[in-house]
Amino acid sequence: INRFVLEGQMIEVAWTIVPAIILIFIAMPSLRLLYLMDEIHEPTLTLKVIGHQWYWSYEYSDFIKVEFDSYMTPQDSEDKSTFRLLDTDNHTVLPMNSFIRIIVTAADVLHSWTVPSLGVKTDATPGRLNQCSFLMNRPGLFYGQCSEICGANHSFMPIVVESVNTNTFINWVSSVSESSDDWK
Ligand code: CUA
Repeated sequence: INRFVLEGQMIEVAWTIVPAIILIFIAMPSLRLLYLMDEIHEPTLTLKVIGHQWYWSYEYSDFIKVEFDSYMTPQDSEDKSTFRLLDTDNHTVLPMNSFIRIIVTAADVLHSWTVPSLGVKTDATPGRLNQCSFLMNRPGLFYGQCSEICGANHSFMPIVVESVNTNTFINWVSSVSESSDDWK
C-alpha cells in the first residue's frame, strides 16, 4: 500500500492556482465594466414611474407639472386596432437616441416595471427608489406589463413606451404641460 501519494504534487498545485489567477485577472476588468454600464451619470431625461393598484403613473421631473396616469385601454373584442390587454390610454412618450434614466417606486404594494424589448425589469417597491436606464435607437412602440403579482388586476396594468424623435417629444411635453394647467 502506497501511504504517500506524492507524485506530481508541484504541477497539480500549479495547474490549480494558475487558472484561478487568470480568472481573477479576467473578472476584475469585467466587473468594473459591468458596474459602469449599470448606471448612466448624465442622463438626458429622468422619468419617475410609480406603480399603483392597478395602473402606472408617470412624472417627468425635468419639466414643470408633466405627470399623468396610464390605465389599460378597456377591452373591446370589436376593436382590432389595439393589442388586447397591452394598450394604455396614455403612452409614456420618450425621446429616442437619448439616455433615459428611470426611477421606479410604488404607492401601495410591490409592482415591477418591465419592458422586455428595452431590456428593462425593475421592481417597484413602496418606500424605495429603484433605478434603471436605457437608450432607444429607433422610433416605435415598446410594450410591457407589470411583472410582480400585485393583486386582482395585476394582469391589467400594461406599459406602452412610445419612442419619438426629439422635436416630437418637445411638442408632446409642451402639450401635456398645457393640458395639465387646465386641470388646476
Ligand atoms: Cu402591478 Cu402586478
